[in-house]
Amino acid sequence: MVALVKCGDQLYPRIPTVAGTNNACGASLVKKDKPVTNAILPRVTRMIEIRHLRKEFDGNTVPLKDINVTINNGDVISIIGPSGTGKSTLLRCINMLTEPTSGQIIVDGQDITERGCNLNEVRKKMGMVFQSFNLFGHLTVIENIMNPQITLLGRSRQEAFDKAMYLLTQVGLATKVFSYPDELSGGQQQRIAIARTLAMDPDIILFDEPTSALDPSMIGEVQSVIKLLAKTGRTMMIVTHEMDFARKISNRVLFMSDGVIYEEGTPKQIFDHPKHELTRKFVQRLTTLSYKIDSTEFNFEAMNDELQGYGEKLLIEAERLTKLSLAIEEICINNIANYSDNPFIMVKIEYSEKQDTLYLSIKYKAEEYFDPKTSESKLFQLLLGEKTTTLKEKKLSDDPDGCLYQIDMSFKWEEEE
Ligand SMILES: Nc1ncnc2c1ncn2[C@@H]1O[C@H](COP(=O)(O)OP(=O)(O)OP(=O)(O)O)[C@@H](O)[C@H]1O
Ligand SMILES: [Mg+2]
Repeated sequence: MVALVKCGDQLYPRIPTVAGTNNACGASLVKKDKPVTNAILPRVTRMIEIRHLRKEFDGNTVPLKDINVTINNGDVISIIGPSGTGKSTLLRCINMLTEPTSGQIIVDGQDITERGCNLNEVRKKMGMVFQSFNLFGHLTVIENIMNPQITLLGRSRQEAFDKAMYLLTQVGLATKVFSYPDELSGGQQQRIAIARTLAMDPDIILFDEPTSALDPSMIGEVQSVIKLLAKTGRTMMIVTHEMDFARKISNRVLFMSDGVIYEEGTPKQIFDHPKHELTRKFVQRLTTLSYKIDSTEFNFEAMNDELQGYGEKLLIEAERLTKLSLAIEEICINNIANYSDNPFIMVKIEYSEKQDTLYLSIKYKAEEYFDPKTSESKLFQLLLGEKTTTLKEKKLSDDPDGCLYQIDMSFKWEEEE
């Protein structure tokens, strides 16, 4: 007997699907025109060309000054850059949710900034996934995915339903067909939003910080879906602050600053060997936190809060952060600062994704040297005793900040059992 599922006021046959295969729905995460053999190399074609793009708001705010870039078919581009630098505005201009002030955007050979251009046709080529999901709260999951297919693409309800069911299975949410968005977690809602976008068969997908509104525990599930998509040959542009994610999925990274694409390159070039100072500083800020403790009133709690945010951004486990925080508290607060009326301690925290290691560097001015090995804290001694913790101490002679001693610790969790 064929199982039926209800959609709106109609019943439809439940269609069995197997992840990763094409079925009657004809939908797949893999684009149909993807080359299936290596014998013929895919021809590089230009998918999006942006020339001298400028966007002004109210004449005063000019988030995009002069953007020039060519995106090829199948490129997976990560866009990084400081807040307010125009990343969202760029994506919104590309699908004409925001009208550019001047310049050209040529999508698949068609200048979409030209008067008379059929924007509905252009928008069919691309989908956008927003930070805040943008699902319709009064519609069920299946209706959210079916409706745009019916109204914009003219598909029959059955076709739209089949496609929606297939994609829901692909994103691991086939059991949530009749749920409403507010009955789902943020990660689930975002996966539904991705399925809705895919249902329109876009050639290009634009993602605007797709995981930044999610709890850390849900970031991974959404990133996995996007990673899978990135392997399918679709053209994708993703605004993200998650460096590890950008490194893994993209073939090019654009660093935007001050209304222009300031530097672009492979993830390795941008993250490991940035050419320009601004890029270097920005990338460093993504992985480095610095503090100056120059008063006995230092707000250790605020520092811990910031550490949490840093950990969430870089996907560092809570346990590692707790250990890092214990080391800082024991060395800096309970000892060095505790024995001085005028403490001067500089703390630098750095995370290396490559080494999967957290580095803590503490340098300070003081009358006497504090040897961490003499700490009276049992917890701290346990931490020092772990084979994945290293401790190095040195005396400084001509430190530019006038510090006299330095303590370097590193915490590598990977090898721990
Ligand atoms: N509709 C609008 N009207 C007026 N100003 C706007 C509008 N949309 C964006 N802006 C301004 O344009 C600038 C760029 O905004 P945009 O959202 O593109 O930056 P962003 O790089 O995406 O920043 P974030 O990383 O914080 O998301 C900001 O100064 C913003 O206030
Ligand atoms: Mg933005």
